[in-house]
Amino acid sequence: MRILGLETSCDDTSAAVVEDGRVRSSIVSSQTALHAPYRGVVPELAARAHLDDLMPAVARALKDAGPGRIDAVAYTLGPGLMGPLLIGKVAAQTLARLRGVPAVGVNHLEGHVLAAELEHALRWPAMALVVSGGHTDLVLAKAPGRYRVLGRTRDDAAGEAYDKVARMLGLGYPGGPEIDKRAARGDPGAVAFPRPTMPGTWDFSFSGLKTAVFYLLKGRKPAGRELNDLCASFQEAVAETLVDKTVAAARGHGARDIVLGGGVAANSRLRALMAERGSRAGFAVRLPARALCTDNAAMIAHAAWRRLRCPGARARRWERASCDPALSLRSWI
Ligand code: KG4
Ligand code: ZN
Repeated sequence: MRILGLETSCDDTSAAVVEDGRVRSSIVSSQTALHAPYRGVVPELAARAHLDDLMPAVARALKDAGPGRIDAVAYTLGPGLMGPLLIGKVAAQTLARLRGVPAVGVNHLEGHVLAAELEHALRWPAMALVVSGGHTDLVLAKAPGRYRVLGRTRDDAAGEAYDKVARMLGLGYPGGPEIDKRAARGDPGAVAFPRPTMPGTWDFSFSGLKTAVFYLLKGRKPAGRELNDLCASFQEAVAETLVDKTVAAARGHGARDIVLGGGVAANSRLRALMAERGSRAGFAVRLPARALCTDNAAMIAHAAWRRLRCPGARARRWERASCDPALSLRSWI
C-alpha cells in the first residue's frame, strides 16, 4: 500500500511517499530561517509558509517516488498549531477526494513513536520516549495503535528547555542543535546541575533545571570554554534524566525495545547514553536516523499505514474503524 503523507503541524512543511513501511520519497522544507529572528515559531508566519510550500513539496515527493497508484493520503490531525494543521488537513482531504482514496488523520505523537519502524523491526511492547519542542511523553506502546501514556512533562518540554537555555546563553534558535554542537567541546562534569527525578511518577520536570541555569548566569552571556562547559553540563543533566526514567519504565513494564522519537531524539548525548544504558539493561535501543526524529511526513504516512492495516480498519471507512485516529488523539492529549 502506497501512502502520501503530509506534515504541517509546526514549522516544517513535509510531504513523503511511504510504501509498506519503506520510504519512497521524503521532502522537508524547513522554516527555521523564517522564525529564527523571533527566537520561536510565529504561528501566523508558519501557516503562510505552509500555504506556499506544501503543494511544491507534494509535487516533488510524488515525482521522486516514481510511478505508482497512491492508496491513501495521510495528514497530521494534531497536536500542533491550529492554522498549520488546518492547511494540511484541507490539502490532504482535497488530494484524497480528487484521487478517490481515503484521507487518514494521524496523531503526530504516534508518528514520532512509529518513525523508528521505518528502519528497524520493533518488538512489542516497546517503551517509547517522545521528546520534542512541545512534548516529553513516556509511552508504553503495547502494539501499533495501542498506547498508554505513562508520564509526561509537568512544565517545559525537553526541547523547550533547550531552546530557552540557549536563549539565556545567547545562542541562536532552535537551541537544541546549537547546544549539542558546543557541548561536544565541553566538560559535562563542569557544573553539577540538578537531575529532577519526580519520584513515584513517570513524569518529568525541566523548569528547575532551566532556573538553575538562570541563577548561575545572572544575566551574563558566557563565551569560549565556559560556554561549552555549560552546554555540556546542561545536556548531561537532561540526557541522564530522560534516560534513567525511560530505562526504569522499560524494566518496570516488561518492554522489549526502547524507542526514541521527536526533535530532541536527534541529540548526540541522549542517543549515546540511551544506547549505552539501555543495552546494558538488556534492551534493544531503536534510534531513528536524525532526519526521522525531527518532524517529517514519512512517519505520518507510516503511522497511517499501520492504522489502515490494524484489525477493524476498512480502507474507505476508516473514520468508523475501531482504531479511529481521532480517538487515539483524544486519549493522548
Ligand atoms: O519534533 P520537533 O522537530 O518539533 C516539534 O514537534 O516540537 O522538535 C523540535 C525541538 C526543538 O526544541 C529543538 O531545539 C529540538 O527539537 N532539537 C534538539 C536537537 N535537534 C532539534 N534538541 C537537542 N539536540 C538536538 N540535536
Ligand atoms: Zn514533532
